[in-house]
Amino acid sequence: MAIIDFSNLNSFLLNESHFIKPFDCGDEDLNSFLFNKAILYKKELLATTFIIENQERTIAYYTLFNDCLRVEETNFTSKSSIKRFLRTFISHPKRHLTSFPAIKIGRLAIDESFKGKGLGRLIINTITHNAINTNNYQACKFITVDAYHTSLIFYERLGFKYLSENDQYEDTRQMYLDLTNLV
Ligand SMILES: CC(C)(COP(=O)(O)OP(=O)(O)OC[C@H]1O[C@@H](n2cnc3c(N)ncnc32)[C@H](O)[C@@H]1OP(=O)(O)O)[C@@H](O)C(=O)NCCC(=O)NCCS
Repeated sequence: MAIIDFSNLNSFLLNESHFIKPFDCGDEDLNSFLFNKAILYKKELLATTFIIENQERTIAYYTLFNDCLRVEETNFTSKSSIKRFLRTFISHPKRHLTSFPAIKIGRLAIDESFKGKGLGRLIINTITHNAINTNNYQACKFITVDAYHTSLIFYERLGFKYLSENDQYEDTRQMYLDLTNLV
């Protein structure tokens, strides 16, 4: 894997006054969101966008917003599989709960020229680290994402699991990372 020289990279929250440098992740919707919608989403408190750039290009961006992971019957094939699912991360007295606090990765995209160099992993690790810190004053149990099929293995490698047994044929699959035992 090629090493990124992180000393040349700037990372910050996108705001209205920032000129967005060229970016192409190979997906028109994700490219278009950055240039046409990210500022609007920020203004309307729908999603916060983080930018990573070097001198010439935007090399990655990701967006976050608050979420709620709901354990819904439509996502499972039977009641027993719901119970099995809840057993994996909830201790006994709280297994009646079906909604859990979460942070959602709304979008994550790496410029074509920087894919496969470990930047995606670094971004997920940063989001996880910040969510764990946030837990000191505001509980958040999961990081969630509706992942494109082309990125499922990427999220699997980073420890994400599938929420639903029934969304294999949808455009995206619901995935989650449990923060409980991470330090
Ligand atoms: C998916 C994406 C974010 C991955 O970012 P990246 O910086 O290229 O990934 P990394 O280099 O950090 O890879 C981390 C691990 O995931 C694996 N991986 C990354 N992309 C993969 C893919 N498309 N298929 C299979 N494995 C992949 C890498 O091999 C690496 O595994 P390893 O550490 O075990 O060797 C990036 O390719 C991208 O922006 N894709 C287009 C937009 C997109 O699909 N975004 C996700 C929307 S939900």
